[in-house]
Amino acid sequence: MYNSKIIGLGKYLPSNVVTNSDLEKIMDTSDVWIQERTGIKERRHIKKGSDDSTSSMGVKASKIALERSGIDAKEIDLILFATLSPDYYFPGSGVLVQDELGIPDCPAMDIRMQCSGFVYALATADQFIKTGMYKNILVIGSEYHSGGLDMTTRGRNISVIFGDGAGAVVITRTKKNDEGILHSQLHSEGKYAKELSLIGPNTGRWVPEIINKNDPNDVSYFPYMNGQFVFKNAVIRFSEVIMKGLEKAKWKPSDIDMLIPHQANLRISQFVQKKFGLSDNQVYNNIQRYGNTTAASIPIALTEAWEEGKINNGSKVILAAFGSGFTWGSITMKW
Ligand code: UT7
Repeated sequence: MYNSKIIGLGKYLPSNVVTNSDLEKIMDTSDVWIQERTGIKERRHIKKGSDDSTSSMGVKASKIALERSGIDAKEIDLILFATLSPDYYFPGSGVLVQDELGIPDCPAMDIRMQCSGFVYALATADQFIKTGMYKNILVIGSEYHSGGLDMTTRGRNISVIFGDGAGAVVITRTKKNDEGILHSQLHSEGKYAKELSLIGPNTGRWVPEIINKNDPNDVSYFPYMNGQFVFKNAVIRFSEVIMKGLEKAKWKPSDIDMLIPHQANLRISQFVQKKFGLSDNQVYNNIQRYGNTTAASIPIALTEAWEEGKINNGSKVILAAFGSGFTWGSITMKW
């Protein structure tokens, strides 16, 4: 049986920076409100007319990850692409990345688990490596939110939060069972599916129906979030799943070198940090600069933490996520 370990990481953020004061000009919001409630100062939005897309951002992040891994794209045995904003309704974005990278016929699978997408994808990749089925896997999280947000005061509780971007990792097998991904735990609770969702268009209400109605009050094609309810569940589930990871790895909170929480809200990260008695050096946050990039937030933060020298050989790292579904999960790994 093999373990899997990350051997290359990359990120890509569109160059267009949207500050809180930019948002103040188009909706009734304020820099003070956004910073106090979320910690966000700015985010990246793909500029209209630019070539960036969910898959192309994934390709850019992947190319960096592949180069750093020393593995040629053609040696990739499987692509897992986590997103809630795929380029097309179908097919998924994984196959588009495969084509762009010139990988002939490896499987390319999309993972639709929203903010927990990257954790789900990495845990899935780990299983394929553990069984020996695949050797090298490319795992991507990429999101293009900005084009689909309600950028009016009506949508402000959501649209100030989300940002665009992508992160990717290359994982490979190792025979050492005390390095790489040690444990993963995944959960979901479908009874809260609609509390953070985008329900229209759907297979009960196809696009032509929505277009034909042309109802200016139809908000079903914008994301909806019951913010306080999601927040309360997030702090509970983050704490539970980090605790499970610690127990399985037989680590104490003080053993953690780096906790990378999904960047949902700085207040959630701070709550978790306090609960486990972690120092600022043990938790990585970049929501201030990028907002919430859902499935991309963990690989972007992981890449940055590694680039900044905060994760090194032997570092004990925990990734933890919570989001729409509800879904949540964590991964413990030794770098
Ligand atoms: O990534 C997946 C997981 N996501 C999360 O975990 C997010 C969890 N939820 C949250 O982060 C927070 O609930 C939000 C940041 C979304 C909202 O913060 P909140 O403190 O829960 O605010 P709220 O929704 O209870 O709204 C409080 C007030 C309301 O005004 P009234 O009714 O008190 O007059 C809102 O209309 O703040 C108002 N408000 C805003 N004001 C200025 C909501 N959004 C904004 C805004 N600017 N952007």
